[in-house]
Amino acid sequence: MHEISEIIRGAASQAGGVLPFARFMELALYHPEFGYYERHDRQIGRSGDFFTSVSVGPLFGQLLAFRLAQTLQPALTGSPRIILAEAGAHDGQLAGDILDWLQENRPALYERVEFHLLEPSPRRQTWQQAKLHRHSTKTVWVNHVSALPLGETLLYSNELLDAFPISRLRWHSDAHAWQEWGVAWLGNRFQWQPLAALSVEVIPWVPDLPEELLAVLPDGFCADISPAALRWWQEVVGTVAQGHIWLIDYGYLPGEWPQPGQVGGSLRAYADHRLCPDPLANPGGQDLTAHVDFDRLQVLARSAGWQSEYLGTQSAFLSAIAADWWRTGDGTAAIFQESSNWTAPMVRQFQTLVHPAHLGRAFKVLSLSRTQKAAVT
Ligand SMILES: C[S@@+](CC[C@H](N)C(=O)[O-])C[C@H]1O[C@@H](n2cnc3c(N)ncnc32)[C@H](O)[C@@H]1O
Repeated sequence: MHEISEIIRGAASQAGGVLPFARFMELALYHPEFGYYERHDRQIGRSGDFFTSVSVGPLFGQLLAFRLAQTLQPALTGSPRIILAEAGAHDGQLAGDILDWLQENRPALYERVEFHLLEPSPRRQTWQQAKLHRHSTKTVWVNHVSALPLGETLLYSNELLDAFPISRLRWHSDAHAWQEWGVAWLGNRFQWQPLAALSVEVIPWVPDLPEELLAVLPDGFCADISPAALRWWQEVVGTVAQGHIWLIDYGYLPGEWPQPGQVGGSLRAYADHRLCPDPLANPGGQDLTAHVDFDRLQVLARSAGWQSEYLGTQSAFLSAIAADWWRTGDGTAAIFQESSNWTAPMVRQFQTLVHPAHLGRAFKVLSLSRTQKAAVT
């Protein structure tokens, strides 16, 4: 990735030699021409660099569609507008799986739903439009949550916040302070270098750990935090007036961070389905990702007036949906009315989605609701 390396080197030199890692990651993933997520849309799945629940097969979207149809059912009679929205839709596969299922199994809801894709990248919008052509009368693109219309809303995302740029903090036990890692071009490669001071965007989000814990935190302990993701989340929970938000991603539940085994942080790089040893190598050619702090997200959402409906593993979340579906026999006969009707591929997909050793335990779901945003006085 010659061009993007040159661009990052230029940015580092303009910044005085050391670039905050969040800016390195932002350029590596989202540079409008050479960024990892901008060059093409084939990063996910067997021929890409990593799998997601979406690339396991259509069952993930079908299960979500079943639950969201139940959730939005009352709005069919109670609300003038029903807004379904996905953020981080990538190539539009999950949106397509959900809309296909609704069209076939809940035609009344399909007719009423206004489906919005929150997508700031013009290039990714084009890819999604091509993929969702069959639903072109239903789909609208917006680049910010504030552009969503008012109405009963269900906004969901899968593996979005783990792809936001992170800032990497390091605990400096002698100084009893957090230090921020930057990136410099040294000896013909990018290398970690401490920044002289914390970036302004980082300061409000520095982990607020109790003194007793800081006293024993090992020197060099890494905290990977994403001010960009937290700001995005604050905008979402502050803007959506009424409805539901489902956030699915891998990350920490309350009480799961910090732990002794997390000294090295959660930042990872992937290419060709392999963990790559150096996140600074090959910018634009490998995915960069870090765990999401669900505890913090839940606290922010509650303070904005949202109620938590569920925070736990993907395994329990999807298993409860499947159990409801089997119990009511209310799915499509073509898909399943009881578990024994499942085809072998569906059983395999379900196992991958819920088995703790596959995606069931690492992935978490935060489900929130709000009846109506309180008026600001
Ligand atoms: C790890 S991929 C997940 C894709 C898809 N949701 C799935 O589960 O297969 C993360 C996606 O989020 C997109 N993304 C990053 N920042 C975004 C933002 N601010 N708004 C919408 N999408 C964003 C990336 O371009 C990428 O397509």
